[in-house]
Amino acid sequence: MGTAMQIKDKVAIVTGAAGGIGAALAEALVDGGAHVVISDIDEARLAATAERIGAVAVAGDASSEDVIARMIATAQVSFGPVDLFFANAGIGDGLGMSATDEQWQQAIDINVLAHVRAARALVPQWVQRGSGYFVTTASAAGLLTQIGSATYSMTKHAAVGFAEWLAVTYGDDGIGVSCLCPMGVDTEMLRSGMTSGGGTGGKVAAAAVTGAGEVLTPREVADQVLASVAEGTFLITPHADVREFMRRKAADHDRWIHGMQRYQRHLMGEV
Ligand SMILES: NC(=O)c1ccc[n+]([C@@H]2O[C@H](COP(=O)([O-])OP(=O)(O)OC[C@H]3O[C@@H](n4cnc5c(N)ncnc54)[C@H](O)[C@@H]3O)[C@@H](O)[C@H]2O)c1
Repeated sequence: MGTAMQIKDKVAIVTGAAGGIGAALAEALVDGGAHVVISDIDEARLAATAERIGAVAVAGDASSEDVIARMIATAQVSFGPVDLFFANAGIGDGLGMSATDEQWQQAIDINVLAHVRAARALVPQWVQRGSGYFVTTASAAGLLTQIGSATYSMTKHAAVGFAEWLAVTYGDDGIGVSCLCPMGVDTEMLRSGMTSGGGTGGKVAAAAVTGAGEVLTPREVADQVLASVAEGTFLITPHADVREFMRRKAADHDRWIHGMQRYQRHLMGEV
């Protein structure tokens, strides 16, 4: 196991925390006795969530260096130095070959570079203090793939890759890293895919997720994340099947791709 952290009395920042998994993480942290700063681009919903759970809100884009600096400064002034950072804000879509450079860049900024920028701001001070914890919300799509979305598949793989690199590079400095890779979680992201904001790709993406296993509640996922932080476990897979799918992929990549092609054909016939 890596470096573990007890959350009681610790200072935590959670991004993408106006609702969904982020709000559940923030609430679970507050319940566990942590001091919490939450952030989201949706200012009104963020303020309501902060009020409900008893957290301090900093509105803004999670991928902006200025906003990240504001989150850290607010946490410092309100509670003290930041102990844990939950890089959870993310965007999903149903984009394939039609995705424009702007859409690719947006997915890369929010799903990957936001993590890099937060780590760049925090890791040096954590190394000095000999303690800190970074939690990445990636996705099972970052270990396997996301049928229906090229941008999501690629950026979530990159998020996993960055989290692995952080763990390998800074584990010896007392820094813990966990990487959350769920399949379906009952949040706005999954619901909007099903109804479909993201067009056919979004519908296929949501069907691929809900068809592959159980849809968990955000709080179930948040509780598993905090249990993993308490143990210093890197990979968090609230859906046990993900481990089995990973084993099959590693054992025979071509066979796994054929299986995914078959699953996609099946889904295309359904949506
Ligand atoms: N719901 C699922 O099935 C599922 C599965 C695997 C991974 N995830 C990941 O979980 C994370 C949380 O998503 P969720 O399911 O709770 O969905 P959600 O849509 O409820 O939450 C995402 C939040 O991120 C915020 N956000 C979007 N862009 C932002 C930006 N640029 N800056 C700051 N905030 C921004 C949104 O306003 C929203 O509140 C995401 O990274 C998502 O990819 C979700």
